[in-house]
This record gives sequence, C-alpha cells and structure tokens, in this order.
Amino acid sequence: MKNYQDIAGDGGSDVLGQVSARRRAVAEALAGVRRVLAVGSGKGGVGKSTVTMALARAFRRGGLRVAILDADLNGPTQARLAGLEGAPWIPRDGRLALPRRPDGIGVASLGSLLPEDRPLSFDTVSKGEEQTWRATRELALLLQLLSSVRWGDLDLLLVDLPPGAERTVQYAELLAPLAAEDPERLAFVMVTVPSDVSRGVVARSLAALAGTPARLLGYVENMAGYFCRECGDVRPLFPEPTVALDAPCLGRLPFDPALAELCDRGWPGGSEAEETSEAVRQVEQIAAHIADLVGCGPAAPTGGRRPPLGAAGPHPTTTDRSEPEEVLR
Ligand SMILES: Nc1ncnc2c1ncn2[C@@H]1O[C@H](COP(=O)(O)OP(=O)(O)OP(=O)(O)O)[C@@H](O)[C@H]1O
Ligand SMILES: [Mg+2]
Repeated sequence: MKNYQDIAGDGGSDVLGQVSARRRAVAEALAGVRRVLAVGSGKGGVGKSTVTMALARAFRRGGLRVAILDADLNGPTQARLAGLEGAPWIPRDGRLALPRRPDGIGVASLGSLLPEDRPLSFDTVSKGEEQTWRATRELALLLQLLSSVRWGDLDLLLVDLPPGAERTVQYAELLAPLAAEDPERLAFVMVTVPSDVSRGVVARSLAALAGTPARLLGYVENMAGYFCRECGDVRPLFPEPTVALDAPCLGRLPFDPALAELCDRGWPGGSEAEETSEAVRQVEQIAAHIADLVGCGPAAPTGGRRPPLGAAGPHPTTTDRSEPEEVLR
C-alpha cells in the first residue's frame, strides 16, 4: 500500500486545478451576496440551528434579503425549522432555485431532499471504507451546493454550521476565500449555553478560529435561564459558569417554550408563538446589533415590540425590495 509520501505531486488528479475551478464557480454563484454570516459553536445541541433561523427571521422582518445554507449535511434541520421539508429545488438556467418560505427566506437544506429517516450516504469504492472518503466528500458536496444554487441578490447568507470544534475550523477555512477581497464579507457568530461543558468546547473552537482569517463577531448565550410563560420570570437553568470566553457576548436568549414550538412547527411567521416569544424579542436585539456590526443596516431597534429592524412586516408584500425572484411555495 502506498503512503502519501510515495505519491508524486497530486498523483495526476489535478486536484488543485479542480479546487480552483470549484472556487471560481462558488465565487460566481455568490457574486450577489453582500455578507456571509456563519453560525457555529463546536458544541452540539446548543441551539445553532435555532439561532440561525431566528436571526434570519429577524433580519427578514427588518427588510433584509436573507437565505440560509444548512451546512450540517449529516443532521440537516433547517428544512424542518423553515417548514420546507420535501420542498422542491427547481433547476433553471443551469442552477437550482431555492425552496423559499412565504416570507421570502430561501433555505438550502438537505433536509428538504432527504427524508428524516434516511441518513446521508456516499457511494464508495469498497463497502466499509466510507470513513476514508466521508470528510472530503462532505466538504466537496458543500462547495457543490454553494456553486449550484441560484442565490440571487442577498444582503446576508446565513450558514448553519455542524457541531465539532475541528469542523468549525474546517468550514472557516472552506469559506475564507469568500472574504479574500473584502475581509468584512465573512463573519462568524458562536452559540453556547451557559454551562462550563459547553463554554469549554466553544473556548476550544475560538482558539482554533483565531488561527484562521475568520472575523469573529462574538457569541450568543442561548438557554440563559428558563422563561416561564405563566409568570414572565426567567429562572436559572445552569449553575454560574466559570469558563471564560475570549469574545464579546452579543446577547442572551432564555429557553422559551414558544421558540421550541416555532422550531417544531416550521416557524409560522406572525404566529402567536412568534409575536409573544421573549426569546424572539431578544433575538431581534441581537440581530440589530449584528446587522450593525456587519454593515447591513437598517439595524437600529425601534424600542417597540414590532417591527424590530425596519419597515417590513411578517409577510412582506410584492413591493418589498427583497421579494424573492421565484416563490416556490
Ligand atoms: N432558546 C431556546 N428556547 C427553546 N428551545 C430551544 C432554544 N434553543 C434551542 N432550542 C431547542 O433545542 C433543540 C436543539 O436546538 P438546535 O437544533 O438549534 O441545536 P444545534 O446546536 O443546532 O444542534 P446540532 O449540534 O445537532 O446541530 C431544538 O429542539 C430547539 O428547538
Ligand atoms: Mg443544528
């Protein structure tokens, strides 16, 4: 069996040529995207996908044109969160039109293509050797997704990252070329819960990210207490954490049953759960802050309950500047 050292150059695969062709295709597909915001953590189950969707919704209500890329290819949840399970991706002019929510948020998630009882699997040259190819295939598939979709003109593309500190860095490196000409174009937000277990993993991710050109905006503390819908109090969920994080805290969200309901029900815009959720209200403040940081205003919170970022309501009209190119559902 050959070792890597035994293979001369790229073994004749022209791998660098292939990579640069793919990078060019990604750059072209994303030419109309002003800012890319990756939401990661390293820790699993802390609310990355929830925060991604909640931020997208808040940005959208503020009148921004947004889409989500569910980069968690093995555990894609954005299709369910967005209410787009089974929604078609329609080929047109060599690219795929994104499934869109009624509010115009486009969502690229393998969850709308793969039924929930089917895992992502790749063909391999020999059975039982899937692990040899898996990481490479996943990253290649992600680049293929980025280059194959008709993203159109967007203010913000949110990328929902999978768990794993090492994967967070891999994805940071994968996305880094997007910011080659404009370092402001790509930013990262981390999500943690206020436990030392979670903060420890996030600290590891932060340290790893520091070795990349990724622009880190800070972290969101999710599940910072339990919001009681009966009495309106926020009660503690975790003991006071002791692990320090070397990044600004962008805001805190309580665990809010209304938010859990929104996630499980495909986030119906303008629903009672959305309008009364304390977590949604807090997310709007965080979204305004992030919009400001990445230069995607209008970002000033109005101070009132609604609308948070701008003039657009829960269901933007056809005159809204962010009306999607094609509404598929
Ligand atoms: N603030 C919150 N209030 C209520 N429910 C929440 C909140 N944050 C997350 N959840 C719920 O917790 C669960 C896990 O959240 P989510 O899937 O967003 O985590 P994740 O970090 O993306 O997980 P993974 O690492 O598997 O990708 C979901 O059922 C979600 O609805
Ligand atoms: Mg997730």
